[in-house]
Amino acid sequence: MHAKVVVVGSLNMDLVARAQRLPRAGETLAGESFATVPGGKGANQAVAAARLGAAVAMIGNVGDDAYGQQLRQALLDEQIDCQGVAVCAGVSSGLALIVVDASSQNSIVIIPGGNGQLMPESVQVFDVLLQGAEVIICQLEVPAQTVAYTLERGRALGKTVILNPAPCTGPLPLNWYGAIDYLIPNESEAQALTGLPVTDLASAEAAASHLRSLGVKNVIVTLGAQGALFANAQGFKHFPAPVVQPVDTTAAGDTFVGGFAAALARGTEEGEAIAFGQRAAALSVTRAGAQPSIPYLAELQP
Ligand code: RIB
Repeated sequence: MHAKVVVVGSLNMDLVARAQRLPRAGETLAGESFATVPGGKGANQAVAAARLGAAVAMIGNVGDDAYGQQLRQALLDEQIDCQGVAVCAGVSSGLALIVVDASSQNSIVIIPGGNGQLMPESVQVFDVLLQGAEVIICQLEVPAQTVAYTLERGRALGKTVILNPAPCTGPLPLNWYGAIDYLIPNESEAQALTGLPVTDLASAEAAASHLRSLGVKNVIVTLGAQGALFANAQGFKHFPAPVVQPVDTTAAGDTFVGGFAAALARGTEEGEAIAFGQRAAALSVTRAGAQPSIPYLAELQP
C-alpha cells in the first residue's frame, strides 16, 4: 500500500524538564521532573498523521546512537514506513532541550545532529514514496535546500504540499511560495515570515494576506487558544479552538498539521480537516510530552 502522507523532516529526542517557570538568562532553577521523549517536528507530524488515520512514510535522518534507534522504533510502532529514515554514521541524533512551565508554555533549543545532514539526494532516492503520496509535509528543522527540493518536487508531481514553517527566523525564499498548497505558521512564525505583528485575528488576517500575495494558495495561521485563521482566494474564515485545560503545548502544532494532512489525504473537505486537526491538537495539549500526547483516531470519534 502507498503511504498517503509523506513527511520529509526531523526526528529529535526531547529532553524535557518541567519547572514552575522558565529560567531567566544566567539563572539556575530547580526543576520538578525530567523525561526523555521521542519528538522532532517531522516525526511528530508523521505520528499524528498515522494515529489519526493515514498510511504514512517518513524521510529523515537519525544518528548512530541509542536515541536514533529509539526514534526509529517509535515510528515503526505506529506502522510508519521508515525505509526513508537513514542512520548517519558518526553523528548524534537530533536533540531538543525543552523546559515546560506550570502554565504549560515551553521553550525549546534544538541541536540538529543527523537532521542537519538530510540532503536533497536523500529525498530523491525515495522519489517513489513522493509519487505514491496524496499529501507531502515539510517543516524547517532540516536543511533549506532539502525543503526547497521537496516542495518543488511535490508541485511537479501534482501533490498537495504542506509547509509548516517551524522553526522560523525570517522570510522564506520567494520562489518557495508558489509550490505550497497550505502554509501553516503559528503567530510567531507568521510574524517572522512577514515582519508584521501577529497577536490576534485581525493581525493574522493581515499577515495571511501578505503571504497570499507572495503566491501561496492557502494560509492557516494557528493562534493557540484563539483558534485558527484560514485564508484563501475566497477570503478569511475563523475556526475557534476547543476549550481545554492545557498541561503541555509541546507538539500541539504538529498534531494539528498531522491531523489536517491525514484528513485531507482521505478526501475530507478542507474546513472540516481544519476542525479535525484542531480537535486533535486540543486533546494533545491536555497531555505531557510530544509523541506521547498525540491522540488516536478512536479518541476523536463523537
Ligand atoms: O514541535 C515540537 C517539537 O519541536 C519537539 O518535539 C522538539 O523536538 C522540537 O522539534
